Amino acid sequence: MRRKIAAGNWKMNMTPTQAVALIEKLKPLVKSDDVDVIFCVPAIDIPAAMTAAEGSNIRIGAENMYFEEKGAFTGEISPEMLVDAGVKYVIIGHSERRDYFGETNEDVNRKVLKAFEHGITPIMCCGESLTMRQQGVTMDWIRQQVKVGLLNVSAEQASSMIIAYEPIWAIDTGETATSDQAEEVCKGIRDLVEELYDKAVADKIRILYGGSVNAGNAAELFGKDNIDGGLVGGASLKEDFGKIVNYR
Ligand code: PGA
Repeated sequence: MRRKIAAGNWKMNMTPTQAVALIEKLKPLVKSDDVDVIFCVPAIDIPAAMTAAEGSNIRIGAENMYFEEKGAFTGEISPEMLVDAGVKYVIIGHSERRDYFGETNEDVNRKVLKAFEHGITPIMCCGESLTMRQQGVTMDWIRQQVKVGLLNVSAEQASSMIIAYEPIWAIDTGETATSDQAEEVCKGIRDLVEELYDKAVADKIRILYGGSVNAGNAAELFGKDNIDGGLVGGASLKEDFGKIVNYR
């Protein structure tokens, strides 16, 4: 009985002023009693977004966070800063962070552990490239990403976290994985979690699919046994997000 999640990933879009306008527009559209709605927004938008979302079911998350407490790390955002701003969720290890900013599985693991230390729920991302899929090594790669990401994460922590499976070839390309392809990998991740912990943890952890989720394909994707919702980029910036939240 896992609650579904519709999480938006705004990426590098929306100024603070635009963020407020978008949240005001989406607020009535994303109302839901049975789906958790999370908007992961650029760090500078967080305070304005928090205020705009007050009194609604929208939870504000961050798109990244550093694994150190404080100090000489110019340009980074600390977990304490996020907590002070009221943030409860943070995306960790998005493929764009891995590809453009060199984040490794080890960095991802340190960030996941640090988020838990501060009571923030990580949304840990994983996903294969097109070449990997063509070579048939998707699950090897995903297992490695998830296994290293979960190093030293306790069973209790793992039960409460969120993993997002996002095939790189489906991100921002308009090409969605078929619901069967997405389900296959999400099930593979759940099986791995059972292997690493136990069935109780595997039954609780929430696994999202991400990659060109839109109003037209959300119902089929979210209807799969092992897909507990979506991490949504482009479509989270539009009224479509309301249809994704209310996919049923
Ligand atoms: P997309 O992005 O929905 O625009 O493909 C998803 C993501 O990168 O989280």
